[in-house]
Amino acid sequence: MKKILIINGPNLNLLGKREPTIYGNASFEDYLETLRSRYPQCDIAYYQSNIEGEMINKIHEVGFTYDGIILNAGAYTHTSIALHDAIKAVTTPVVEVHISNVHAREPFRHVSMLSAACRGVVIGFGLDSYRLALESFIG
Ligand code: DQA
Repeated sequence: MKKILIINGPNLNLLGKREPTIYGNASFEDYLETLRSRYPQCDIAYYQSNIEGEMINKIHEVGFTYDGIILNAGAYTHTSIALHDAIKAVTTPVVEVHISNVHAREPFRHVSMLSAACRGVVIGFGLDSYRLALESFIG
């Protein structure tokens, strides 16, 4: 059984309520249930935090034992060298995901501090971005 952790960063606890024209109407909890039933061969853990240091602590906690981390760091994507370093520090591969196509949005979203430290990046497929990232770990 593959052990995968999904980490959602700041403001992603509001999925379903937050800017639905950009992020959709579904809550992440509902989407997660669908994902878990579709991939019974994976043990999919979930963690959300609005706090950068807590996300770093979680990466450290699972980053030597889990098979994969799917990370949507929200706006920290564009600013956090500390998250970049945390991804580099662990052995578990990390896939960066974004729900929206950040390259079709404001210029400040076009830069990621994280991509270079990640195994790969999935951008712009709505919540399906998480499933596509999961597929990359199943192989
Ligand atoms: C996001 C894109 C980020 O620019 C933004 O700050 C988010 C969500 C996405 O999933 O599309 O919070 O990571």
